[in-house]
Amino acid sequence: MSDVFLNIDEQPKDSVSMISERLEDRSFKGQFSDFTKEYFELLDYDEYSRILELGGGTGVIGRNFIEYTNFKGKYVVSDLSKELLNFGEKKAKELELDNHLEFKQIDAMSEIIHDQGSYDAIIMHTLVSHVPNPALVIENAKKLLKRNGKIIIFDADYETLLMASGNKELDEIVNTAIKKGCVAQPKVMRLIPKIANSLKLKLIKYKSNLLFEAGSAEFFYGMGKTLSTAVVKSNQLEKKIADKWVKEMEKAMSENTFFGMCPYITYIYEI
Ligand SMILES: C[S@@+](CC[C@H](N)C(=O)[O-])C[C@H]1O[C@@H](n2cnc3c(N)ncnc32)[C@H](O)[C@@H]1O
Repeated sequence: MSDVFLNIDEQPKDSVSMISERLEDRSFKGQFSDFTKEYFELLDYDEYSRILELGGGTGVIGRNFIEYTNFKGKYVVSDLSKELLNFGEKKAKELELDNHLEFKQIDAMSEIIHDQGSYDAIIMHTLVSHVPNPALVIENAKKLLKRNGKIIIFDADYETLLMASGNKELDEIVNTAIKKGCVAQPKVMRLIPKIANSLKLKLIKYKSNLLFEAGSAEFFYGMGKTLSTAVVKSNQLEKKIADKWVKEMEKAMSENTFFGMCPYITYIYEI
């Protein structure tokens, strides 16, 4: 099994647009978006500042950062996926945010790093849980920073993720398939302190947020539907099982019995 987020451009076309829409939707409002704002509030940058997001996808985090903090500097959205970057670039132009947003294809796992020492902050918002070598990505982030630059790592402990419709057997099958097919590193947030220590990064702040929905579901309904479809499309789960599970989720929501949880963690380091 392999993580669909590792090679988005090689996924079927309808999967790519589904993933783009999901990335947009999940950061638009609600608990997930609120967690993001909590770390935005800890960052103070001006018109001369340069921020780089590695694995920035469609740039929704960058757009939110610019709007929420009234950021006047440059926020560079980088990603491996040309498709997501194109989607994001178009959106930034439509919203007239292209003065402050730039889009660049960067492989966060590359051995060759351009623009070393160029940025005031590097943001990795749900990137490290997807890459085969998180330590290399964080080492690269360090190289890209100016003196006293900051590294922000926001991600989930996906090992703990649970979307429970109440059908125990199906919940087990689909949750497992989603973790295997969509998250290369479900326990990576447990390893970050060790990786950071080996890179001599200074811990400034950490926090945790539990994304929790009981009875009904909005975040987990979107997540469950998108990720179960993505694993079906990448041939890692049978369509009839995924469809049945989504129906079970809908039934649980209509009966007010759904249960879903996922812990998100933020680390902020300085070099
Ligand atoms: C879950 S998405 C997060 C996107 C964005 N940060 C957000 O929260 O909306 C993970 C992103 O990491 C990107 N990615 C995976 N491997 C990468 C790599 N080696 N270098 C750069 N980006 C990568 C994927 O293409 C995808 O856009």
